[in-house]
Amino acid sequence: ASVPVLTIDGPSGSGKGTISRLVAEELGWRLLDSGALYRAVGYAAGAEGLDLSDVDAVTRCAQTTKIRFHATADGSDTRVLVNGHDATDELRTETAGAAASAIASIPSVRQALVDMQLAFRKTPGLVADGRDMGTVIFPDARFKVFLTASAAERAKRRYKQLKEKGLSVTLATLQREIEARDARDASRTVAPLKPAVDAVFIETTGMGIEDVVAKVLAVVRP
Ligand code: C5P
Repeated sequence: ASVPVLTIDGPSGSGKGTISRLVAEELGWRLLDSGALYRAVGYAAGAEGLDLSDVDAVTRCAQTTKIRFHATADGSDTRVLVNGHDATDELRTETAGAAASAIASIPSVRQALVDMQLAFRKTPGLVADGRDMGTVIFPDARFKVFLTASAAERAKRRYKQLKEKGLSVTLATLQREIEARDARDASRTVAPLKPAVDAVFIETTGMGIEDVVAKVLAVVRP
């Protein structure tokens, strides 16, 4: 039988990142943070001084950028190396999120990242976090979840996350940025953010992390 995959798709701030990590740990499965790949390409393109709307240049950048995930010695954190440089902190900013969203609307950029994503599928299983995991990359996944939360709640969660990382943002600005990014992700023609027809919907507004993790695990182990 094929290696089991659990896809977790949803908009930014829906808690996908945290939930996917905890669920993968609990199952002992590998984790694919596909957003980090788009963020890494956006970051690399910026570092090279590319115009993010220059399709050919950004596509070449997506094809050549070396992205490595690497666990810290104590295993508590994953660092992202972009062309050998630890860009983890830069990748978490909302600026990097916006750059990722811009280059993610280019079909040839998405195509350049397909094989890298498929390669994460290894025994005993994979938790894949993103926007199109259940629809485009792993349409045959055994388990599919779509996480949502109200825009206000998602902005609040991101705000808390960024604050904890010491980044200075205002809640109002962040909510505007998140809504703009979601609107772009949902309206693009290639791999738009939309639930797979066979995904289990989990509305997480007002729910604690533990409860969401339990609900997602129940999809895999009913
Ligand atoms: O999930 P994260 O916020 O890190 O994703 C950053 C951006 O990358 C998203 O706003 C989206 O535009 C893009 N993305 C995507 N497809 C994925 C994951 C992320 O288009 N599978």
